Amino acid sequence: MQATAPASISPQIYRELEQEPFPFTVRRCTPTIGAEVEGIDFREAFDHDTYLSLRRALLKYKVLFFRKQAITPAQHVAVARRFGELEVHPMFTNHPEHPELVVFGRNDKTRGRENLYHSDVSWREIPSMGSMLRCLECPEVGGDTIWINMAAAYENLPQEMKDRIASLKAVHDAMPAFGAALSEEKYAEMRAKYPPMVHPVVRTHPETGEKILFVNEAFTTHFANFAKEQPYRFGSDFRPAELDLMQYLYRQAAAPEYQVRLRWQPDTIALWDNRSTQHYAVQDYFPAVRHMNRATIIGDRPF
Ligand code: SIN
Repeated sequence: MQATAPASISPQIYRELEQEPFPFTVRRCTPTIGAEVEGIDFREAFDHDTYLSLRRALLKYKVLFFRKQAITPAQHVAVARRFGELEVHPMFTNHPEHPELVVFGRNDKTRGRENLYHSDVSWREIPSMGSMLRCLECPEVGGDTIWINMAAAYENLPQEMKDRIASLKAVHDAMPAFGAALSEEKYAEMRAKYPPMVHPVVRTHPETGEKILFVNEAFTTHFANFAKEQPYRFGSDFRPAELDLMQYLYRQAAAPEYQVRLRWQPDTIALWDNRSTQHYAVQDYFPAVRHMNRATIIGDRPF
């Protein structure tokens, strides 16, 4: 691979490289999703070929786990930036010196609320390509995170369902999840800056070409064109049918067959693809301390 190769991988190049070995050890966690990577130390600089191999592994396994990565917040930002521009989250608490890092500081006063299946910032016009989450402190037991392969969730839908949802679009909105914690002024400001966004229910992965089920229970509120696309009247048979379909689609993320579950240790890093996965932070550890930093990589408009 040449040093000037692009930062992302096209579906054609991805297919050509799919069988090539990786220059690091990769141990699959389940047949469907997740791999533990050994032989990478994020405290050291890595070259463009290694970056492309990591990106290829990310596309293939969808979430990668790296143990014993005692990096600084600046190194965290620098490594994540290799994968794309980083966003500053407008509603979470950000790191005081590195605003590109979201700080999840959970303890006996602040309970974690990420225990809903979601894809990070799917409510943005340009949702996230991926996230890199590092554990600084966690309970010895509890506070695992679950990731779900949403390409497998789509692939296994009955053909009849695939046909039914093919042209549907859905509305994604940050406010049901974040609104209640905001002051009235901040709510009005955020509402104006981040209006509800419409994305396809089935998106195409820009690098692998996979079809992905792209609705999630945290941010997807309703279909934008259900009544137009489905054989229902406007009226009493329309809303229940829409809600039933949305619930059915949300529920696909809850199938253990599509999931991998990580037990954290301090200095474990998870790097995931937000386009093809959802995740769920298990809230079973309150009031213990769980302290994480997340860099969120900007992606592209779903199509
Ligand atoms: C997140 O939703 O990005 C946070 C996940 C976690 O804290 O495990």
